[in-house]
Amino acid sequence: MISDAEKEAVSRVLDGDILVHGPKSKEFEAAFSTFTGADFSVSVSSCTAALHLVYFYLRLSAGDEVIVPAQTHTATAHAVELCGARPVFVDAETDTGNIDINKIEQNISARTKAISVVHFLGMPVDMERILHIARRHNLFVVEDCALAIGTYFKGIHAGLHGDAGCFSFYPVKHMTTSEGGMIITRNKEMAERISRQRAFGVDRHAGERTVPGIYDVNMLGFNYRLNELQAAMGIEQVKRVKGFLKIRKENYETLSRHFNGLDDVKFFKSTHDDFESSYYCFSVLLGRRLERKRFEIAQSLTQAGVGTSVYYPRPVPCMSYYKNKYGYRDDSFPVASWISSSSIALPVGPHLNGQDMEYIAASFKEAIRKAI
Ligand SMILES: Cc1ncc(COP(=O)(O)O)c(C=O)c1O
Repeated sequence: MISDAEKEAVSRVLDGDILVHGPKSKEFEAAFSTFTGADFSVSVSSCTAALHLVYFYLRLSAGDEVIVPAQTHTATAHAVELCGARPVFVDAETDTGNIDINKIEQNISARTKAISVVHFLGMPVDMERILHIARRHNLFVVEDCALAIGTYFKGIHAGLHGDAGCFSFYPVKHMTTSEGGMIITRNKEMAERISRQRAFGVDRHAGERTVPGIYDVNMLGFNYRLNELQAAMGIEQVKRVKGFLKIRKENYETLSRHFNGLDDVKFFKSTHDDFESSYYCFSVLLGRRLERKRFEIAQSLTQAGVGTSVYYPRPVPCMSYYKNKYGYRDDSFPVASWISSSSIALPVGPHLNGQDMEYIAASFKEAIRKAI
């Protein structure tokens, strides 16, 4: 979904003087704050960088623990590991694939510093319940919003309920800057500190240096900046994202209508009451009979020209790194494992129209007919 507007915006940056640390990043941050309602937005090089910076700000270190959903991208847990702390995984709930809130408190210990939640496939976590637990145990709350641009809980955008929200602009997301990410928060001190730490911990940005070469380094930091080319793309994409989200919703609803009541097929609960999804994809949960044929079904769809994916192929604690390090078993997270082994994700992105969705639904039905 790259239009002439993005191409021209990137070209203008290439024709200009500033590739990094410039006005485009600031403009993109302001536009993202307007879209989400955030007080502060800090642009960074990826969602992984965003998560790492937030935990770094928290001074997370060896001996600390963070509650992490088992059903997520590995980045959610890696960011904790990168600080030397331990992710303590919690299984998913069956209705949405989100963290099972009922199982959080039994995993909190004296070492727990934070709860991280992921709005799985764009469905918001019940942040009221999360904040209730966090307040009771004095914990920091990190929202991994990699799939949650356009996700609202009680009318407030994802990322603004907890202490920090981390977004991804990787190509398959709701909008893209090729690689890229953003941190949103209501905490000014955090935003300012993180904006220094994304650029080596230098005490003033390049634009703030009246005399070139005069600066101090008063904290540790990374090189996690978003550059001006990416920011220029982001500015144009934010302008279009409402339109993208509208198409995603329509596409999702078309598939829901087709799959409702289909034999041996289920799907997650979507937008209802205070919970508004961003419709990242349409994840089909195959019943027992079809589950064994999942790869045949995916293959038939590939042959029909329909791209599929799996979110996510294994619970993170069942990936070798975590399994070997912490001794988790393949059956330690039954709900997350069930989602991993039975789901096929179908696309609903804005590059697809109503006719495409009819074709995808028909191709899926044909694929399962062939498989059984
Ligand atoms: C839930 C979740 N968190 C974090 C990430 C990492 O995002 P990035 O590629 O921008 O680092 C992803 C990537 O898909 C994700 O799905």
